[in-house]
Amino acid sequence: MIEYRKRCIASEAIATLETGGIGKVVIAGAGVSMLGIELAARFRELSVFETDADAASMARKRVLVAGLGFAEGSRLQCLEADARDLSGTRAVLGAAGWGADLPTLLIVEGLSYYITKEALRRHWRALAPASRIILEYLVPPADVGEARRCIPERVFGLIREYGSSEGEYPCWREGELRLEEGLQVERLWAMEAIEGELAVGDPLFSRREDGWIEIALMRRGEAHA
Ligand SMILES: C[S@@+](CC[C@H](N)C(=O)[O-])C[C@H]1O[C@@H](n2cnc3c(N)ncnc32)[C@H](O)[C@@H]1O
Repeated sequence: MIEYRKRCIASEAIATLETGGIGKVVIAGAGVSMLGIELAARFRELSVFETDADAASMARKRVLVAGLGFAEGSRLQCLEADARDLSGTRAVLGAAGWGADLPTLLIVEGLSYYITKEALRRHWRALAPASRIILEYLVPPADVGEARRCIPERVFGLIREYGSSEGEYPCWREGELRLEEGLQVERLWAMEAIEGELAVGDPLFSRREDGWIEIALMRRGEAHA
């Protein structure tokens, strides 16, 4: 599943950047993911800002990037910032040269279950029009087929104690995202659809309800009055 998620997000990010108009990428909760390094190496004019609340992991990442030949000359910065704190995150990004008034591609992978929905909303509502958001999210247990419902409940049970102030780990539904103010869902990927695209011989996800995460590509429109 992680492989499908990573391949889908990388290919959506590349397709979005290839259409032009976006010169900055923010990867929130980037951790040890190589996506930022790959995007910065592939698109040499692109400014990539990775943020993570874990200062030690960003410090290690900076050392890693400095030693990678193919990342040489790329515009990648690894910054410490807590996604629950929008103004603090924007101050860190601003000091690093990110401009709030230009379209950004915001990638939220492996993070949405650690922070509240309101905290996430604050991020995308503050983005400039024509920005894009790639959001990987958990679907509510009730939407997962009975045979697999226990998997996310067990795996993410610990997250309740770790990051969310909601008591439960935050889940999203397609219908809810489609109603989000100032956002348009451009594409939405369930595991079943990703697997179909990859033409996997022996499918693990035959129906949408076989998967417990999904990925949405959304566009920031004009803010409503
Ligand atoms: C499961 S890892 C995902 C890493 C990477 N995005 C990926 O998908 O491979 C979650 C990451 O989110 C970071 N994280 C957790 N809470 C955060 C917060 N409030 N603000 C920023 N980063 C956070 C953790 O430090 C960790 O690096």
